Amino acid sequence: DKGNRRHFMEKEIHEQPEVISHTLAHYVDFTASTSRPLDLPFDFARIDRLALSACGTAYLSGLVGKYWFERIARLPVDIDIASEFRYREMPISQNSAALFISQSGETADTLASLRYCRKAGVPIGAIVNVRESTIARESDVVLPTLAGPEIGVASTKAFTCQLSVLASLAVRAGVARGTISPDEEKALVRALSEAPRYANQVLKLEEQIEKVSRELSHYRHVLYLGRDTNFPLAMEGALKLKEISYIHAEGYAAGELKHGPIALIDENMPVIVIAPHDRIFEKTVSNMQEVAARGGKIILITDRKGAEQATVDTMETIVLPDVPEIITPIVYALPIQMLAYFTAVFMGTDVDQPRNLAKSVTVE
Ligand code: F6R
Repeated sequence: DKGNRRHFMEKEIHEQPEVISHTLAHYVDFTASTSRPLDLPFDFARIDRLALSACGTAYLSGLVGKYWFERIARLPVDIDIASEFRYREMPISQNSAALFISQSGETADTLASLRYCRKAGVPIGAIVNVRESTIARESDVVLPTLAGPEIGVASTKAFTCQLSVLASLAVRAGVARGTISPDEEKALVRALSEAPRYANQVLKLEEQIEKVSRELSHYRHVLYLGRDTNFPLAMEGALKLKEISYIHAEGYAAGELKHGPIALIDENMPVIVIAPHDRIFEKTVSNMQEVAARGGKIILITDRKGAEQATVDTMETIVLPDVPEIITPIVYALPIQMLAYFTAVFMGTDVDQPRNLAKSVTVE
């Protein structure tokens, strides 16, 4: 049931404040501002590596997770696309654990990577949305995303719930490994608990994002740029746009621009820059200047401070609320989903059932 929405995807985008809140409540205590103890088959304090594997959007959530685990818990993370993980014969340290991320819990490559780790004898956790799935059944612990059924083929709410689980786990790992103090834990959990409210505020930017999307629908190629955790988000933005609007899009780390993609820049390829005002914001401003100098059109997604300090002409600037650093990937996921959604609507594609794609990829 789509409620009063045109598409499941639209409905699922709008459900995010609520389902992010549900999911977080499973992993953190909002009142005490602490992370909840988890019954894990391994001890975050004792492992020296974490392996992550998944496909598509779930993989990109894991890539954000890597930044969090490494920064907050000083826990090194190896992350692979599941179709690579299963065949590349990686050596797996006995002192490690593996996490698999999957909305459906049935993705063939992700399941095969899980079985590879099972053979290697490491403890296995699954971040899944469908609890009665094969991946859930075959793992030692199920770490659920409480997104509810996701019908639209393009993943939206499952992604932000995966991010919510990964951020909570990284905080938990930080506590276990003694890399964050009780005060830092509280501050991080408090920041996480604000994500639903900020997500709600971003949904109110619908009109502006729809207007930008109308513009975007006139182009054949789009480049997304971001640094740090916004780099996986840039790839997620590109993935979302290509799968539902069929516009060719690529996501790059902004620092890679001059190593190749800059050759593509002209007035026919808009560049979407995902850049909250953070400690590397100035670096991204230089990248935008390089784009502008070549006639590239910029759509900047940033916050108030970023909008003030971006000394560059943009085609459009989407200004999000100022949010604590840890939740930027969760909050910034929404405008990129909305951009893809409205662009696809303008293109007249089948948003919920894009051509050639299946919701659950159970064959290799
Ligand atoms: C993109 C998308 C896919 C899935 C991928 C993994 O919007 O939906 O990239 O994320 O097929 O699926 P799950 O999470 O079910 O393993």
